[in-house]
Amino acid sequence: MNEAVQTSSEFAPRVFSGIQPSGGLTLGNYLGAMKRFVDTQNTGVQSIYCMVDQHAITVWQDPDKLRRATYELCAGYIASGLDPEKSILFNQSQVPEHAQLGWVFNCVARMGWMQRMTQWKDKAGKNQQNASLGLFAYPALMAADILVYHATHVPVGEDQKQHVELTRDIAAKFNHDYGVDFFPIAEPVIEGAATRVMSLRDGTKKMSKSDPSDASRINMTDDADTIAKKIRKAKTDPDALPSEAKGLEDRPEARNLVNIYAALAETSVDAVLAEVGGKQFSEFKPILSELAVSKLAPISTEMARLMEDTTEIDKILARGAEQARAIAQPILKETYKIVGMVGA
Ligand code: TYM
Repeated sequence: MNEAVQTSSEFAPRVFSGIQPSGGLTLGNYLGAMKRFVDTQNTGVQSIYCMVDQHAITVWQDPDKLRRATYELCAGYIASGLDPEKSILFNQSQVPEHAQLGWVFNCVARMGWMQRMTQWKDKAGKNQQNASLGLFAYPALMAADILVYHATHVPVGEDQKQHVELTRDIAAKFNHDYGVDFFPIAEPVIEGAATRVMSLRDGTKKMSKSDPSDASRINMTDDADTIAKKIRKAKTDPDALPSEAKGLEDRPEARNLVNIYAALAETSVDAVLAEVGGKQFSEFKPILSELAVSKLAPISTEMARLMEDTTEIDKILARGAEQARAIAQPILKETYKIVGMVGA
């Protein structure tokens, strides 16, 4: 457990990202995050991926369901192609350095910054007095997740951009306040056709695991028939598909289905429209459905197989946590030294 701590502005590239084990995984999580994690892992850069169980409890979770969702998320990561031999894979609560650095960042971040977070405003809504303190402080813990590894790149969907920007502000303020160049200014990496997958029932709303309508999303555990049915019933407009991306402006549902197709097929929106432009949705939906089933069904089958033996998942997470701590411990210790903690 003795990695040298980097303190210069020239930080080696390192990727960190996380997903909450709250409820099931959606196609939004897969295309916006997980699939891109796999692509990153395969470029050879050191990659650290986390199941952020401490974020999940910012709203109450049934303990048994949280445990199951954490296993299922780990199974999802592996079934999607993350290789625990290549990437570090673990759940947040097994690496206490996240929460420890999170406290330091609670003392760096300003109330005004947190109050501006749109996700806080959306999630707490009009009921802020009754929201947990954890929900309010959550972006400071997210900054700690990233910076306790000196991560430089953070692949996320569009909805997490503001939190990564806050992470940059926290790093800059810490460096400034203590006169150091210790934390990197991490970059959000928001790329591809599906950085914001929308609800199948309303193309102006994000696809989300918390939407009360199950028909609004594709879950990674849905079987082939369910996926096909949800796509068949997805909201569309009456026009044919355009031949160019410009024709998707002001057509949120059409744009969403084309984006999903492009991301699943690993191609561009223009390339998709060159192929399907002029077709009616009655023709396009079965093509999309077939592609979605061919890509997603093997993942859900593999997830179900992995869930049969959670002791194997326990071993993977324990080993990942050990590898993660080997990086995080010296960075936390150095942080404590910088802020003046005796014994660090
Ligand atoms: P979470 O768990 O809500 O979502 C996990 C990832 O999935 C992406 N995502 C989407 N992408 C495209 N379209 C969608 N409809 C969609 N829904 C979700 C999210 O952008 C995210 O990348 N706070 C984070 C978890 C987190 C984290 C971190 C991420 C905690 N610490 C450190 C990066 C780095 C969250 O709640 O994501």
